[in-house]
Amino acid sequence: KQSQLKEVAGILLQTATVDNWNQIQNFEAKPDDRLICTYPKAGTTWIQEIVDMIEQDADVEKCQRAIIQHCHPFIEWARSPQPCARNAKDCMVSYYYFQRMNQVLPDPGTWEEYFEAFIDGKVGWGSWFDHVKGWWEKDRYQVLFLFYEDIKKDPKHEIQKVAQFMGKNLDETVLDKIVQETSFEKMKENPMTNRSTVPKSILDQSISPFIRKGTVGDWKNHFTVAQNENFDEIYKKKMEGITINFCLEL
Ligand code: A3P
Repeated sequence: KQSQLKEVAGILLQTATVDNWNQIQNFEAKPDDRLICTYPKAGTTWIQEIVDMIEQDADVEKCQRAIIQHCHPFIEWARSPQPCARNAKDCMVSYYYFQRMNQVLPDPGTWEEYFEAFIDGKVGWGSWFDHVKGWWEKDRYQVLFLFYEDIKKDPKHEIQKVAQFMGKNLDETVLDKIVQETSFEKMKENPMTNRSTVPKSILDQSISPFIRKGTVGDWKNHFTVAQNENFDEIYKKKMEGITINFCLEL
């Protein structure tokens, strides 16, 4: 692959993002804007679909009006709320597959090479550690911090939490429908969420599907024992003083 990342303010970004940098930097949120802020591969599409379904009162037809990234455009640089985080190990694995199939991102190299690059934050949109720390340390005012692993474990409870944060009171049938429609299986077959409308020259799903595995703990199939020990050491140092207990297996 010929694609390159470019560095802006110390962070590697995709060229399309760099080209829109002025617009992104000058973005001004309105008081009632809701922003979804995720590190890549933390479940961005999932939470976008959940928010859309809540907004549309689980009206599937309305939700399928356009591909999800157009219903909820992704804003890479913003100051307010609704971060969604996923444990670093599964994020790394997911990102590795994504970078292989994404033709506009550079080749990730071998798993060992990628492991180092991810730890050093030398991947698109910067360091997982900086992202998570940055959001965790933010003023809690009007920020709903969600975890991929929690949504996986108890989707109904977490979706309810998102709805409350959005000031919506959902009745039981609507809530159940949202749980059902935002399941991994449904989103994998839904062309508005599975990115199947994106040309193969950009996302080559024959290399790896966009909605790939959707599990907690896939890292165990990729990390060697030595890599895991090494990672845990580095994690302790980089996340010093931060007490977030990421769930690593369900
Ligand atoms: P995997 O590669 O581990 O399968 P993003 O949208 O931020 O790029 O995140 C993509 C990750 O979220 C992928 O992880 C994808 O499978 C997972 N995902 C998307 N929809 C999901 C759902 N409904 N349930 C569980 N995981 C989901």
